[in-house]
Amino acid sequence: MAKHAKLIAGNWKMNGALGANETLVRALLEGAANVACDVALCVPAPYFAQVQSLLTGSQLALGAQDISAHPHGAFTGEQSAAMLKEFGVRYAIVGHSERRQYHGETDEAVAAKAAAALANGITPIVCVGETLAQREAGQTEEVVKRQLAAVIHVNGHCISEIVVAYEPVWAIGTGKTAAPGQAQAVHAVLRAQLHHAASEHAAGVRILYGGSMNAANAAELLAQADIDGGLIGGASLKAPDFLQIIAAAA
Ligand code: 13P
Repeated sequence: MAKHAKLIAGNWKMNGALGANETLVRALLEGAANVACDVALCVPAPYFAQVQSLLTGSQLALGAQDISAHPHGAFTGEQSAAMLKEFGVRYAIVGHSERRQYHGETDEAVAAKAAAALANGITPIVCVGETLAQREAGQTEEVVKRQLAAVIHVNGHCISEIVVAYEPVWAIGTGKTAAPGQAQAVHAVLRAQLHHAASEHAAGVRILYGGSMNAANAAELLAQADIDGGLIGGASLKAPDFLQIIAAAA
């Protein structure tokens, strides 16, 4: 399967305000008109309507930071895939390490969320990654493979439709980026695992790197053979920085 364009996805996390969002999105629209890569903004749910309206007619896609595994019902605080669809959401991050850590999301829950997204035509961005303790104990491969295996187990038939994001937990928000070779090594492991699950589609699955990616280090990371884009936290909130990352991918 042919390679897709690279995907640069901003994860705003729990940041934003109506005024600041408008300024940021307008600057991105101006700076990223006709870019040769895919760009998504994963914004907090209360801002879906605002950002959907700002992005209308542009190449930039709207994304969510989470999605419910359930279609509807008594799940206080959750948002269903159908609700996301009503706002034109095209991508949903699932299994971000902050949700695994602070909300107790298991590999099985993450797989179910990916399934709910896929069933509704939303592309799940499935996050995997090891903690510092796990890396130091030599468990990186085992951890990321276990996390991805759960998603493949439930969604194997449509694995070509997912996006994977390798986000080493120790690199998130710390300014400690994985060295390009270090990231590439894990991406190659994930690619091989995808190949094993669906050989004809593995090359087409985008594997993003996330964790302190910024304007200065993006180009070198994105030049690695199996790094097909980025999932960017802090730097996605600053238009000039995010635009430089987009330029590095395009
Ligand atoms: P930072 O880019 O702020 O390290 O965050 C990465 C991340 O968690 C994106 O999902």
